[in-house]
Amino acid sequence: MTNKTINFDSNPPVATNEYDTMAQRVLPGYEVMHTMALSVLKATLPEKANLLIVGAGSGMELVKFGKGNLQWQMLGVDPSSNMLAIAQQKIEQHGLSEQVELFTGYTHDLNTTSLYDAATSILVMHFLPDDGSKLAFLQDIAQRLKSSATLILVDMYGERGTPEFERMISIIKVFWQEMGIDDTVKIREFLETMNKSVYPIPEMRVMELLQQAGFGNILRFYTGLWTGGWVATKNSW
Ligand SMILES: C[S@@+](CC[C@H](N)C(=O)[O-])C[C@H]1O[C@@H](n2cnc3c(N)ncnc32)[C@H](O)[C@@H]1O
Repeated sequence: MTNKTINFDSNPPVATNEYDTMAQRVLPGYEVMHTMALSVLKATLPEKANLLIVGAGSGMELVKFGKGNLQWQMLGVDPSSNMLAIAQQKIEQHGLSEQVELFTGYTHDLNTTSLYDAATSILVMHFLPDDGSKLAFLQDIAQRLKSSATLILVDMYGERGTPEFERMISIIKVFWQEMGIDDTVKIREFLETMNKSVYPIPEMRVMELLQQAGFGNILRFYTGLWTGGWVATKNSW
């Protein structure tokens, strides 16, 4: 098992100040996926709740969820101080400072005495290899959740090397062109970056890892080409 993840400060897959613009173009359904995640949370959580936002990055979830329910309190966790600096600016711009706290580091650095009603991990776990690191990541989150808490997990998924995955790659290339990236060199570079830094797994394996980490009641709520979103409930035993 390795503790290594991609480092958005020292070796970002995309320059952090370009992340927001690129995410909208490169990640299928990026903004509407966050709206769907908010819908899942609003349909599930009480009016007052505290949320753990793992891999909060430049603050998309913090702003969307914070404005979505003014009574939710959130802790945004991320090892990248550059990404969190962008999040901090947005929190101030949107007047969310009372609702949101930031922590530079990993989930396992947090104490296990503050327990959360929900957690989200959006576009984070796919950077971890499936060598025990993905499971440890989910277990770290589970340990900081209340019984019956909600988890939202969004990741690139699929099985590299299969005809289905190759087919998806050819679709993704066209999608990127449709989104205005008509530079073939850039598209090749994106795919190489993805190849080096993203570890997709089949949906069955996503389910298995969630179950092993103590989650059940799993439902896929989103599919954006090779990105999937699942909601799960922490077991009460
Ligand atoms: C692709 S960005 C996603 C940011 C945000 N969730 C979004 O939807 O735009 C991935 C973020 O996860 C962070 N990250 C990487 N490994 C992590 C880990 N093990 N725990 C928490 N965050 C991590 C990175 O620093 C980066 O900010």
